[in-house]
Amino acid sequence: MTDKARIAVFISGAGTNMAALVYASRIEGCPYDVALVASNDPDAPGLALAAAEGIATFAQSHKGLTREAHDAAMEAAVIAAGAEYIVLAGYMRILSDGFVERWAGRMLNIHPSLLPLYKGLDTHARALEAGDSHAGTSVHLVTPELDAGEVLAQLAVPIVPGDTPESLANRVKFAEHQLYPRAVADYVGRWRDPAALLQRVRALALALPETDERESHGSPGFRVGGEKAGKFFAYFADQHHGTPHIACLVRTGSMDELLNLVESQPDIYYKPAYYGASGWVGIILNRPGVDWDEVAQWLQRSWRNVAPKRLTRLMDAADAF
Ligand code: GRF
Repeated sequence: MTDKARIAVFISGAGTNMAALVYASRIEGCPYDVALVASNDPDAPGLALAAAEGIATFAQSHKGLTREAHDAAMEAAVIAAGAEYIVLAGYMRILSDGFVERWAGRMLNIHPSLLPLYKGLDTHARALEAGDSHAGTSVHLVTPELDAGEVLAQLAVPIVPGDTPESLANRVKFAEHQLYPRAVADYVGRWRDPAALLQRVRALALALPETDERESHGSPGFRVGGEKAGKFFAYFADQHHGTPHIACLVRTGSMDELLNLVESQPDIYYKPAYYGASGWVGIILNRPGVDWDEVAQWLQRSWRNVAPKRLTRLMDAADAF
């Protein structure tokens, strides 16, 4: 685990979930820091707590602004705070599609129901009305459709005799305060954990025919072609030579291709020390939103570059059609 992920928390009200996120971040080993608490309501009580905790705050009323203009003001504060993730905690604004798309895979929300049940408002009243045995809470990724993104974690909470929407809401909040910090930590942590990333690269690399793993200069490397004549088609590099990157190195077709990738998509690709000189590119893995299908395709291409003819002949034939 390297440095901590920086999160911005958006609130509109009491901010009890924000407080839970803040105090969890103060416990040793938490993989995130709260870099900003922002609100569309300058009087949101949570802002005072955040300020008292020494956390940067930002408030901009949405009144009189278009949705896009308000989102842009909030986003500018997030960027100024250097936050990499936005964590919505009782933020009572629908966000514009453009904003949601820009933060795809980097924005989470907590919703007081067991999604996909009861999207939207008045969840507790609806669960009571339906005679459900349990209510609950869900942490999910934010997508343009309301409360419909991938669910990352859930906790069920029983409904007890005599419950009102208020009593149920309070009980659900106890569960939320446990669930949200854990779900955020797991989510931001998984992009930074070298062991988890290596495991994923290893699974993809070793799924290709006639491959084995062998250490090379202290890094895990993946070869094709058998014990004796095997050639490397991938390496796993964990922050080598002063880079902050955890990466998978694969062979490109040419130096031009390598330089082009690095120049056009510097968030994804870099030219690694030593290997770069022979046309290897680094695919950065310690970032949110890694497209693992793309990593798999790169591995396959790199494998094919050096695999013995007897393994690639069929593919070459298929390509010729
Ligand atoms: C929580 O119940 C959350 O699920 C919902 O809004 C409420 C926010 O409460 N999205 P608080 O401001 O964190 O106390």
